[in-house]
Amino acid sequence: MGIPNAAVSAATMKAMVLTGHGGLDKLIYQDVTVPQPGPEEVLIKVAACGVNNTDINTRTGWYSPHVKTALTSDIGVNGVPADAEELGTWDRDSLKFPRIQGADAVGVIVAVGRDVDRRRIGERVMVDPCIRNPSLPSLSQGVMYFGSECDGGYAEYTKVVSENAMTVNTNLSDIELASFACSYSTGEEMLVRINLQAGETVLVTGASGGVGSANVQLAKRRGARVIAVAGQSKEALVRDLGADEFIPRERQDLARAIEELVGRRGIDAVADVTGGPTFSQMLRALRRAGRYVSAGAIAGPCPEIDLRDLIYKDLQMWGVGNPQKSTFASLVGYIERGEIRPLVAKTYPLAALRDAHTEFVSKAHVGKIVITI
Ligand SMILES: NC(=O)c1ccc[n+]([C@@H]2O[C@H](COP(=O)([O-])OP(=O)(O)OC[C@H]3O[C@@H](n4cnc5c(N)ncnc54)[C@H](OP(=O)(O)O)[C@@H]3O)[C@@H](O)[C@H]2O)c1
Repeated sequence: MGIPNAAVSAATMKAMVLTGHGGLDKLIYQDVTVPQPGPEEVLIKVAACGVNNTDINTRTGWYSPHVKTALTSDIGVNGVPADAEELGTWDRDSLKFPRIQGADAVGVIVAVGRDVDRRRIGERVMVDPCIRNPSLPSLSQGVMYFGSECDGGYAEYTKVVSENAMTVNTNLSDIELASFACSYSTGEEMLVRINLQAGETVLVTGASGGVGSANVQLAKRRGARVIAVAGQSKEALVRDLGADEFIPRERQDLARAIEELVGRRGIDAVADVTGGPTFSQMLRALRRAGRYVSAGAIAGPCPEIDLRDLIYKDLQMWGVGNPQKSTFASLVGYIERGEIRPLVAKTYPLAALRDAHTEFVSKAHVGKIVITI
């Protein structure tokens, strides 16, 4: 049992509950019981929570291996076709309904579990959404994702292990702080894996989105040259983030567009979150011993690959599903030192989460959509 605080007098709270895989109608705004923190957990009064694609991927069933297509706005609103079996989460079969989603919670600790220092009550925290088992090897420690295998931040209160409730010393607002956790920790982990160095050139796809806009900033922070790919209409905002070069996603000849910018030697690295039809061109555009990292496949999870690019250019490739603890700690430092800035496109109240999802999947925005609680 947790040690209650006077701030938590209610037994129930408002929450947006995901009741199953499917369309927006699976999200129900309702009263639920306020969670009780376990011995090593803290209870957080949530102020804001960012929207992420993982919310959409899980709700719609897009993580299912039966789904081979891009995550279109139609799927985002209505879910995957009903004949898709074995729906689940990124972890395949670990999801239980009802579930409160929301990976990017920010708020104040109002109660703590038996084994947590009571002085944590009152701290403003940002949740590190990757719940780890430290006894496992470093790249396989992520065993649950906040808002996926356990309840998350689309509620007035949420609980998480104390270690994942991170204090951040910053003047940023709750809404701004709630724009970082999932996207930026994923982005930084991608750059850690490819060991991006100052002076290198990196291709950043989906550069108008949550992870992509993070990658533009995080790569510039490392002193790299960034070639960004995003929708033509978003060029000015993406350049404003720091992108040195811009290739419109509408261009089909991505490899040629990259060659025009870097020459025949090829590009040093690719930080990709789209996959899809241009994936093979990304490998073609890499230099000998170039590095490719993926954390997303919004444009299609099953692209063609020419293994001769991988083999005869000695390419190195990584997948990123669970950022490491040290990466999240780095992220907190970047925020506290003002080395990266938030990019909040729009906010919605919790009760309007369906509207927020509708806008999110239309992909007209740049940066993050944040829910206020
Ligand atoms: N592995 C992880 O831990 C992790 C964490 C976060 C996200 N992800 C994944 O990474 C991907 C991106 O996430 P995000 O939060 O950055 O998403 P996001 O905010 O929706 O941004 C994705 C961007 O990709 C572009 N895009 C959309 N549909 C596309 C298509 N069919 N082809 C090419 N580009 C398309 C859009 O930009 P333009 O319209 O401007 O081109 C959009 O802004 C998702 O698949 C997500 O599930 C993974």
